[in-house]
Amino acid sequence: MRHFISANQLTVEEIMRLFETADWYRGTGLELKQQLFAANLFFEPSTRTKSSFIIAQRKLGMEVLDFHTETSSVKKGESLYDTAKTFESIGANLLVVRHQSDSWFEKLKGNISIPMINAGAGTAEHPTQCLLDLMTIYQEYRTFNDLKIVIVGDIKHSRVAQSNAYALKALGAKVFFSAAPGFEAYQLDFPYISIEEAVNRCDAIMLLRTQHERHDQRSAFMTDYLENYGLTKGREKQMKKHAIILHPAPINRGVEIDSDLVECERSRIFKQMENGVYIRMAIITNILQEWGIMNENTIEKCKTAISSR
Ligand code: NCD
Repeated sequence: MRHFISANQLTVEEIMRLFETADWYRGTGLELKQQLFAANLFFEPSTRTKSSFIIAQRKLGMEVLDFHTETSSVKKGESLYDTAKTFESIGANLLVVRHQSDSWFEKLKGNISIPMINAGAGTAEHPTQCLLDLMTIYQEYRTFNDLKIVIVGDIKHSRVAQSNAYALKALGAKVFFSAAPGFEAYQLDFPYISIEEAVNRCDAIMLLRTQHERHDQRSAFMTDYLENYGLTKGREKQMKKHAIILHPAPINRGVEIDSDLVECERSRIFKQMENGVYIRMAIITNILQEWGIMNENTIEKCKTAISSR
């Protein structure tokens, strides 16, 4: 059985089906005729991803188990593995995991018999963020073919960069990177362009947060980072007419992006967050159905649509 670990495990058809399911959830109320428990095991800080998963689970009628590393037996030294085994034993039906290790799932995947969703693995992968980013771009252009998309910023330390670059390429987009010296990740095979070229050529600019917590020391170039490598108001004016701005957030306002651009017309940053709930609902039901934990009959459409968005 598949755990959802990487965006690259999905085919193009599967990604498109997830978008359709997510759109369906956007406008439809649900009633789950089954008791199902979800545990969200976040070993790294999170605002959006964790809350988005909780809302997705509650909208699906699932019961969300309480877990915080600070008040759990993790404080007594319990490992991710033993924590996951515990939730499996007491009856959780789904684990959502974020951990600082790039490969936290390696030890777990053969030994945990309930589905797991990767909510962030070190600097390696963040597949649900990737899907919500893809969905936001797809809403705009209805295709990925020949779109020019640039991922800008701290590529070396960002799990979002890696997930997105390969998925976008598989979907037919032309992907570029733009990074300050030292923030590149040359093991990922994508061409680098300057921020000037990026704003002039690309249909979507995906900014990344500078991941201070993953740096050994503050790089000298951080002093003039926005001016030299970030999205300033001047550069925003050079963007193509229909080009959009994305950022997974949290945002370092005034570092990778001028604060005034966060909510500008081109920005899809809050749309990304909204989409995150629906795509996560689609991912959760997809995996629970694939594992035979949830079947179609247990979800009943409410008679009236609850949202007109
Ligand atoms: C990202 C993450 O945690 O990887 N945020 C998120 O999940 N929305 C990006 C980041 O922390 O910079």
